[in-house]
Amino acid sequence: MKDILEKLDERRAEARLGGGRKRIDAQHARGKLTGRERIELLLDKDSFEEFDMFVQHRCTDFGMENQKVPGDGVVTGWGTVNGRTVFVFAKDFTVFGGSLSETHAAKMTKIQDMALKMRAPIIGLFDAGGARIQEGVAALGGYGEVFKRNVIASGVVPQISVIMGPCAGGDVYSPAMTDFIFMVRDTSYMFVTGPDVVKTVTNETVTSEELGGAKVHTTKSSVVDAAWDNDVEALLQVRRLIDFLPANNTDGAPVIESFDVADRIDASLDTLVPENPNKPYDMKELILKVVDEGDFFEIQEGFAKNIITGFARMEGRTVGIVANQPMVLAGVLDSDASRKASRFVRFCDSFEIPIVTFVDVPGFLPGTAQEYGGLIKHGAKLLFAFTQATVPLVTVITRKAFGGAYVVMSSKHIGADVNYAWPTAQIAVMGAKGAVEIIFRADMSDAEKIAGRTKEYEERFLSPFVAAERGYIDEVIMPHSTRRRIARALAMLAAKKEERPWKKHDNIPL
Ligand code: HXC
Repeated sequence: MKDILEKLDERRAEARLGGGRKRIDAQHARGKLTGRERIELLLDKDSFEEFDMFVQHRCTDFGMENQKVPGDGVVTGWGTVNGRTVFVFAKDFTVFGGSLSETHAAKMTKIQDMALKMRAPIIGLFDAGGARIQEGVAALGGYGEVFKRNVIASGVVPQISVIMGPCAGGDVYSPAMTDFIFMVRDTSYMFVTGPDVVKTVTNETVTSEELGGAKVHTTKSSVVDAAWDNDVEALLQVRRLIDFLPANNTDGAPVIESFDVADRIDASLDTLVPENPNKPYDMKELILKVVDEGDFFEIQEGFAKNIITGFARMEGRTVGIVANQPMVLAGVLDSDASRKASRFVRFCDSFEIPIVTFVDVPGFLPGTAQEYGGLIKHGAKLLFAFTQATVPLVTVITRKAFGGAYVVMSSKHIGADVNYAWPTAQIAVMGAKGAVEIIFRADMSDAEKIAGRTKEYEERFLSPFVAAERGYIDEVIMPHSTRRRIARALAMLAAKKEERPWKKHDNIPL
């Protein structure tokens, strides 16, 4: 019996070595951890239960029958994050560069199927070179199986991908279909095809970093939601994100004990909005002062900074925050901001996370660059997403809410439940200057007349009261009581039920 137990120990030790000590050392020398080390950091201590440690590939081409490694390049199983079950797979770069074989894919799909059955989040740690070249179509088929499950699980359980090494081919397409993608700076890359193929096909010389580094994907392509400096930091941040997320689309947002009182007032908010309407202020200050303990997990911080998206808590329960940022492009809505926010709104709505929207928006960005880039369709995405959302929606207009952007930013008209405005709010078709130039064009040569008209317009329209008189705004609130107002609104809305007519699915303007 002792022999059998020792044999098991030996086989486990062999499997844990993956591609061997030399390759593990090389992995460490590059500043990367191994798949197993990463899982240990991601999950609660001693909670990892590994599956399929002894699975081997069945390929016999190119001498592969002599190169079998137990586990076949991916570590899979389940464990807990702060006591809540999650399923996990981590690519092992030390085994054939983490590439995906038929059996490797079967390990992944087993975990995907279990996550779906158990209605628990699935986290993939990627460090892999795509389809295993020696396996050909068997590997491609394996990816198809993985992709299919990504899509079936979408909107049912949260799917999170962390890119922790060079990733290509299927190892970027599978993440692309998950809810959030994160990267590690300097050691991870994402591209459909690497620099060598780029050189061959387009004759373009480009480094991995320039082609698909964290900077590119967090600021330019918007493929990635956040990046951190090293493996440890990235995995700790994923744990933090998991705490914000529901396990699935029916459990509702988790509640974590909060030491922040719901009726906390903040007098500094009364002076947050500058007297000069063209002067910016930092919307993040408002967010941090309103939410529980100033804890805000920002999504896509480096992209389309004119809009802010992220998770926070009110009275311990997760909320999604969407806010215009007057510090960047005056908080205008452009194509990038619309795309960024609409995806976030749809995630929140899929997973029953209430949304709090802070509005200070001068309108949609005019110009050929935006129109040629499809602003109409991208802006419509945000309009569609907010209109489609049936989760509790609370909106606070702090200053400008002009034109179409007023309607789009979770207005009463498209379905928001509770709409508040600060006394500094200006809800109108456009700002005074633009409005007067159009409706009093004939008087433009008379400066005195124009000044009078501008004043008249400002007094009549650049306030929250015209909207409040019509009930489009439920109440004009004191800025200092914003947290209390939102907390009470969300508490009242917790029981919200809104049914829409049956359909197979909608046709959001993609
Ligand atoms: C088999 C692979 C592999 C692959 C890497 N390796 N990629 N083995 N299939 N796809 C092996 C290498 O042979 C090497 O083995 C080890 O992994 C480490 O690779 P290196 O090249 O030495 O590492 P590095 O220089 O860091 O480069 C990493 C890399 C590069 C950028 C990932 O290896 C690469 O470009 N690989 C190919 C990427 C690719 O084109 N994949 C197919 C995509 S098609 P040893 O024994 O030396 O340790 C695809 C289709 C899916 O995925 C469908 C999408 C819709």
